[in-house]
Amino acid sequence: MRRILVAGNWKLNGSTETIKELLKGILAGISDAKADVAVCAPYIYIPLVQDILAGTEVGYGSQSISENDSGAFTGEISGPMLNDFACKYAIVGHSERRSLFCEKDTDTANKFAAARKHGLTPILCVGELLEEREQGITEEVVSRQLDAVIELEGVEALADAVIAYEPVWAIGTGKTASPQQAQDVHAFIRGKIAKLNAEVAEKVQILYGGSVNGGNADELFAMPDIDGGLIGGASLKAEDFLAICKAG
Ligand code: 13P
Repeated sequence: MRRILVAGNWKLNGSTETIKELLKGILAGISDAKADVAVCAPYIYIPLVQDILAGTEVGYGSQSISENDSGAFTGEISGPMLNDFACKYAIVGHSERRSLFCEKDTDTANKFAAARKHGLTPILCVGELLEEREQGITEEVVSRQLDAVIELEGVEALADAVIAYEPVWAIGTGKTASPQQAQDVHAFIRGKIAKLNAEVAEKVQILYGGSVNGGNADELFAMPDIDGGLIGGASLKAEDFLAICKAG
C-alpha cells in the first residue's frame, strides 16, 4: 500500500514572519493528518524551516536544485548545500521552471540526478499545456518528460522518487483536473513505468498538482493511482493546507 504524501510548494511567497506563523499553524493541527506532509520553501528560508521543523514529522525541501555540486554558477544552490540544512526533498522540473526559466527535459533530468546523488528525494513534475491537451497529446508530452529521466538514470531511479502530475492548465487557475482526468494520466504514467519494471511502478508515489484544495482533495486522493498532492496556493494558509493533509 503506497502512503499518501501532501507537499506544499510555496513558490516565491513568504517572509520570516509569515513562515513562522504558517508552520506554527501546521504543527498545531498536524496530529490528525492522514498523509505524510512536507513543505518546499524558497531557498533562503530553508534554515528557518529547518529550525522550526526539527524533531517534528513534517519533511521539507527545496523548489529546485543545481545540476552542479559547486563552482562558477552564480545564483545556484547545490545538493551538498541542501544536505547542509538536512533537506529531504527537491522539486525538479516544475512547469514554472520549464516555461519561465527555460529548463529543458534534459536539464530536469540532470537536476533529478543531482538530487539523487546527494540522497534527496526528487519530486519530478510533469504535465501538459492546455493546447497540448486539446491536441490530444497529453500522454506523448508526459512520456517525453519521463523518458528524459529514465534514459539518464534508469527506471529503477524512480523507485525512490516522487512524480507529480501537474497539468499546466490547472496550476493556479482554480480549474482542477477532474478526479477521472487525473487518474487517467496517473494510470498511464504507472502503466508506462510498469512496462519497464513492475515493482518500481507499484512503489512510486504519483502526486497530483493543480488547484487542489480542502474541497476536492478527498475525491482526488481516493483514485487508485493518485498518491497525494503537490499544493501551491492552498499550502500558504495553515487551515487550507491542513484540510488537504487530513483528506484521503
Ligand atoms: P496551485 O495549487 O496553486 O494550483 O499550484 C500547483 C503547483 O504548481 C504546485 O507545484
